Amino acid sequence: MIEFKNIKKKFGQLEVLKGIDFEVPQGKVTAVLGPNGSGKTTLIKSLLGMVFPDSGSIHLDNYRLNGKAEYRNNIGYLPQIARFPENLTARELLKMVSSVRASNNNAGELIERFKLDEYLDKKLQHLSGGTRQKINIVMALMFDADYLILDEPTTGLDPIALRILKQLIAEQKEAGKTILVTSHILNFVEEVADEVVFLLEGHIHYQGSIEKLTSTTNTEGLESAIARLMEDQHA
Ligand SMILES: Nc1ncnc2c1ncn2[C@@H]1O[C@H](COP(=O)(O)OP(=O)(O)OP(=O)(O)O)[C@@H](O)[C@H]1O
Ligand SMILES: [Mg+2]
Repeated sequence: MIEFKNIKKKFGQLEVLKGIDFEVPQGKVTAVLGPNGSGKTTLIKSLLGMVFPDSGSIHLDNYRLNGKAEYRNNIGYLPQIARFPENLTARELLKMVSSVRASNNNAGELIERFKLDEYLDKKLQHLSGGTRQKINIVMALMFDADYLILDEPTTGLDPIALRILKQLIAEQKEAGKTILVTSHILNFVEEVADEVVFLLEGHIHYQGSIEKLTSTTNTEGLESAIARLMEDQHA
């Protein structure tokens, strides 16, 4: 289980997170939603130790993470924007990443699932955005980590790749993984997520199941439910 406890983060004068408290349940898919700039990536980066919160604490399996790095071995992370040396080929990148992480990996199977074979010997700079995203997804999933943190995993994917991603997420959940995902694609969220957390203006405005959200906002789907939450905020 991942627990965020009273996380606050300012960038200069900008208060991005104003006391975020929530638990990411074990073995489920939790989606963090919120408009651009609402702090989703900041929250995720705090978990990875890439952003240091001003206060609060983050626990993984009751282990306080703040400032520690070794627990990252148990996390697969897909950054929203992944940057790697452009002159490496995809194969070289995968090899490099495998060599820094001393655990077995199943990159081969994932490469096959996304049909990436023909791209492996091309330089990253020559690959399309969607193909790069598939390689990023391979790197997030290849180590069989217990926790998966996927920041906008659907970016750039075509419908076939999107279907593979959804299947992979379902399989990972079936295998007992705890998954935290962000996405603006609400029908994707409706399909994959068990729980949603809605961030707005530094606070959590909703946390719970999609069913409970649509029933409490008296709306049909996630999109209208989120629209209703935002209207209520500005009413
Ligand atoms: N390192 C930084 N320095 C200064 N400001 C930052 C930094 N990182 C993020 N911010 C600001 O914090 C706010 C939240 O950014 P964040 O990337 O967490 O949003 P997000 O919810 O992930 O948005 P998106 O939906 O666009 O991905 C934004 O206003 C952003 O400009
Ligand atoms: Mg983001």
